[in-house]
Amino acid sequence: MTRAAVVCGLGGAVPATAISNSALAAQLDTTDTWIRTRTGIRRRYVIAPGEATSDLAVAAGRRALNSARRTAADPQVEHRTTDADLVVLATSTPDRPCPATAPAVAHRLGLSGAAAFDVGAVCTGFLYALATAASMITAGAAHRALVIGADTFSTILDPADRTTRAIFGDGAGAVVLRAGTTDEPGALLGFDLGSDGSGEELITVRAGGSRQRSTATPPPVGDEFFAMEGRSVFTKAVLNMSTSAHTLLDRIGWARPDLDRLVAHQANLRILRAVGEQLGLTDDQLVVNLDRVGNTVAASVPLALADAALDGTLRPGDRVLLTGFGGGLTWGSAALRWPDALQVEAVPGMADAL
Ligand code: COA
Repeated sequence: MTRAAVVCGLGGAVPATAISNSALAAQLDTTDTWIRTRTGIRRRYVIAPGEATSDLAVAAGRRALNSARRTAADPQVEHRTTDADLVVLATSTPDRPCPATAPAVAHRLGLSGAAAFDVGAVCTGFLYALATAASMITAGAAHRALVIGADTFSTILDPADRTTRAIFGDGAGAVVLRAGTTDEPGALLGFDLGSDGSGEELITVRAGGSRQRSTATPPPVGDEFFAMEGRSVFTKAVLNMSTSAHTLLDRIGWARPDLDRLVAHQANLRILRAVGEQLGLTDDQLVVNLDRVGNTVAASVPLALADAALDGTLRPGDRVLLTGFGGGLTWGSAALRWPDALQVEAVPGMADAL
C-alpha cells in the first residue's frame, strides 16, 4: 500500500452580508437577468469594514478541524497530539503584503508551532495548496495538514466595474488531511498542475507589488484594482480545466464513464457546463454553488465541496475530480474517492434561499 494524504475534515465560511443581483443593479449599470443568464450567479457575499481574509480563513479552518474531530472514521482522532502540524493558506488577498497570513491563522486556531505559509495561485490556489500539503504528508514532512482557500476580492475590485463586481464574492473553505494509504476512501490519488505566465496580464492587480511599488508615487488610475479580460479568460478556463482533467484521469487510470462528480472552480455556469461537456458529464454530475456564492477565488473549490457534502450530492465512494483555473495563468486538478462518514458543519448563510 502506498502512503497518501486522506481528506478527513471539511468546512466553509461566508461573511454575514449577502448582495443579490438586484441590490447590485441598484448601484451599477447591470440587471439581474444579464448576470443570471451570462454567469449563473444570483448572490455573492462581502466582508464588512474591519473584517479581513484571515477572519474567514479562521472560521472555515475551525469548522474543518471540528469536522475532522467528529469524523468517526478518522483512526488518529483518539491518539492525536495536535490537530495539524501544517497550515497552508491559498489566497491572493492576504491581510497584509508581509508577512504571510497563514501563521496568524494558525495561531488563532491554537496551532502555533505548526509550519504555516501562503500559496498564491489565484483561483487555482486551493488545488496548488492541496497538492503541496498532500506531497508534504506523503514525503513524511507533515502528518496532519489544514489546507484553507480564502479570499476577499471585494477589497480589491473597482467599485465602478460592473463585470467583476457581478462575478466575485468573498468566502473561505478548508479541508483537513491526515496521513493514510491510497486504498482508503478520501485518499488523494493524484494531481495535475500547470501554468502559463505569458497570460499574466489577463487576470491581475498591476500596482502594489515590487514592479509598481506601493511606496512610490500613486499608480496610474485603476491599477490598484483587480482587472480581468473576461472573454479570453473564459476560453482559456474551459480549455485548461478540460485538458488538465483529462491528463489526470489518464494518469490515474480512471475512464471518463467512471467519474461520478466534477467539482470545478465556480467561475461561470457556462464555463462549468462546457468543461462538463468536454468530459462527457451530464449537468447533474456537476457540483454547482456559484448561484449562491459567486466566484470566491481560492475558496471556490472547498466551499463547493462543503456545500455538496452537506446536501448529499457527494456520496461516500463517489469518484470525484476537482479542477481549477485562474490568474498566472494557472490550472490544476486532483482526484479522490469521497470519504465515508465525513461529518460537516452547516455553513451559516450559505444555504439560505435565494
Ligand atoms: N451587466 C451588464 N452588461 C455587462 C456586464 C454586467 N454585469 N458585464 C459586462 N457587460 C457587457 C459588456 O460591457 C459588453 O457590452 P458591449 O457589447 O456593449 O461591449 C457585453 O456585456 C458583453 O461582454 P462580454 O465580455 O463579451 O460578455 P461575456 O458573455 O463574455 O461575459 C463574463 C462576460 C466576464 C461574464 C465572461 O466572459 C466570463 O465569465 N469570463 C470568465 C471570467 C472568470 O471566470 N474569471 C475568473 C477566472 S478564474
